[in-house]
Amino acid sequence: MTTHAADHDPRNDHLLIYLNGKIVPSDEAKISVYDSGFMLGDGVWEGIRLHNNQWAFIEDHLDRLFEAAIAIDIDIGLDRGEVLDALNATANANSMVDNAHARLMVTRGIKSKPFQDPRLSVSGPTVVIIMEHSKPSVNLVDNGITLATVPHMRGLPMTQDPKLNSHSKLNCILAGIAAQKAGADEALMLDINGFVNTTNSCNFFIVRKGEVWTSTGDYCMNGITRRNVIELCRENNIPVFERNFSLVETYGADEAFMTGTFGAQTPVVEIDGRTIGSRKVGALTHKIRGLYRDLIEKVTS
Ligand SMILES: Cc1ncc(COP(=O)(O)O)c(C=O)c1O
Repeated sequence: MTTHAADHDPRNDHLLIYLNGKIVPSDEAKISVYDSGFMLGDGVWEGIRLHNNQWAFIEDHLDRLFEAAIAIDIDIGLDRGEVLDALNATANANSMVDNAHARLMVTRGIKSKPFQDPRLSVSGPTVVIIMEHSKPSVNLVDNGITLATVPHMRGLPMTQDPKLNSHSKLNCILAGIAAQKAGADEALMLDINGFVNTTNSCNFFIVRKGEVWTSTGDYCMNGITRRNVIELCRENNIPVFERNFSLVETYGADEAFMTGTFGAQTPVVEIDGRTIGSRKVGALTHKIRGLYRDLIEKVTS
């Protein structure tokens, strides 16, 4: 099972895509083979969800997007309001108002020659928004997913900072391949000290004796869902800790779950062949899922 499994929706057969200011049918949404994103994975992206015709946590997503653009020295060519206009134009063109997911991508644009030097990216940025009708599969929650620990680590900020939502995801993709070859759905990745850190596409939490634990946050994506879960726990008197913990404490956890914009909180039922808890969505995971659902309703109503 993929952690981004969604129920099939025939409305997705004919999508309209935002491509550099135009809305075009998906089979006409084409970019150059010289695009920096295609050639080098040189770009940044955000995954954002539409509920009740509102973009959930949009300010946080725009903050992270513009911060990443500064970090990799790309001028998006649009201000925050214009990015929001582009998102709304894509949603409107596709008649999407609820349970929809946008992948907003910005690359360094088209290169004059097929080499790495960013000065060869001469066209200005390429901006693409792909939106889909997207409801996470109920199987994800009912059956949970399985993880395998892999040798690929979440690295230090001075290699490829794990806080960058970069187009190049090779480290995470290799981690995912290793996990799948080991028979699991997704990879559990450790940090440079061997503490449990994150999965290849989501943040990771465990529950032990009524306490919710997640990594210190030093080596993982600064997930918006991760931060919302931590804040919801604090507001609802659920003890929550950002701390180092090892595989021993992970295998022995009562519950485990992953967080991300798409799946919210996805239960993890098995790690490296060890069953977690009762192999069902645990009581605290269930409670946090409900609190998060209420939060989404509140911020999008
Ligand atoms: C590696 C990684 N971890 C975690 C997340 C989840 O972040 P968020 O909760 O902001 O969707 C993402 C999503 O972009 C990711 O790529």
